[in-house]
Amino acid sequence: MLNIAIRAARSAGDILVRSLDNVGKLRIDQKSKNDYASEVDRMAEQEIIQIIHKAFPDHAILAEESGMHPGNDHVWVIDPLDGTTNFLHGFPQFSVSIALKNKSRVEVAVVYDPLRDELFAASRGDGAMLNSRRIRVARQSSFKGALLGTGFPFKKQQHLDAYLAMFRAVFTDSAGIRRAGSAALDLAYVAAGRLDGFWEIGLHEWDMAAGVLLIQEAGGVITDFGFDDRYLASGNIIAGNPKMHQLIYQAISPHVTEDLI
Ligand code: IPD
Ligand code: CA
Ligand code: CA
Repeated sequence: MLNIAIRAARSAGDILVRSLDNVGKLRIDQKSKNDYASEVDRMAEQEIIQIIHKAFPDHAILAEESGMHPGNDHVWVIDPLDGTTNFLHGFPQFSVSIALKNKSRVEVAVVYDPLRDELFAASRGDGAMLNSRRIRVARQSSFKGALLGTGFPFKKQQHLDAYLAMFRAVFTDSAGIRRAGSAALDLAYVAAGRLDGFWEIGLHEWDMAAGVLLIQEAGGVITDFGFDDRYLASGNIIAGNPKMHQLIYQAISPHVTEDLI
């Protein structure tokens, strides 16, 4: 199953890279405020679905652009292009994210950065890899010197005040905060120890599912804003090594409103 996920991610990644020169000519739909999809998102998604369905015709699929395709207890969760806004601007930070859940537990995960040819992969119980190298979360144990990742709630601006208060609480002591624009890749970077921690409001399951397993298999911790494991449903996520996760949780907790738990 991991091999199929890898094949599908690479194949979709090729489509993204080949289309990058033509972004100016793409047909773009606005799905909701600040939420766009192009023909490339759909083409890449079709490619992934075709590869998965050929190998596992009975499996279900939840894909960002085409929604739910019913099947058995195995559900593939797919974001064919994570970082569409970056992609449409030619800003070179985006990824393909593919996860396989079995009865709501993520079993297989792949996040692929086609521009750097970096493939982050994990199978439950087998650890997490970047290409052929084993990865671990960073050892960082305080905000001092820490590099954190985040995403701005640009689609859910009702949370802006809460978010800015969280930002201030974390910003003051850390060495830097990055908003790179592909949540799946941000989570993969936490797994690889390139980011010491991460938090974001309002993600979708397909942004997170693969990254979650990568981080767990790399020795990290993920929770929602209530220190619980309902992040795939709420979309609100805190990630890091156990210590950094706890520090971010403590820093942002005072600013977490009821509708964020
Ligand atoms: C988005 C990216 C971004 C995050 C947004 C996501 P998309 O995914 O992951 O980093 O901040 O919340 O929706 O729409 O480019 O697939
Ligand atoms: Ca996404
Ligand atoms: Ca997407």
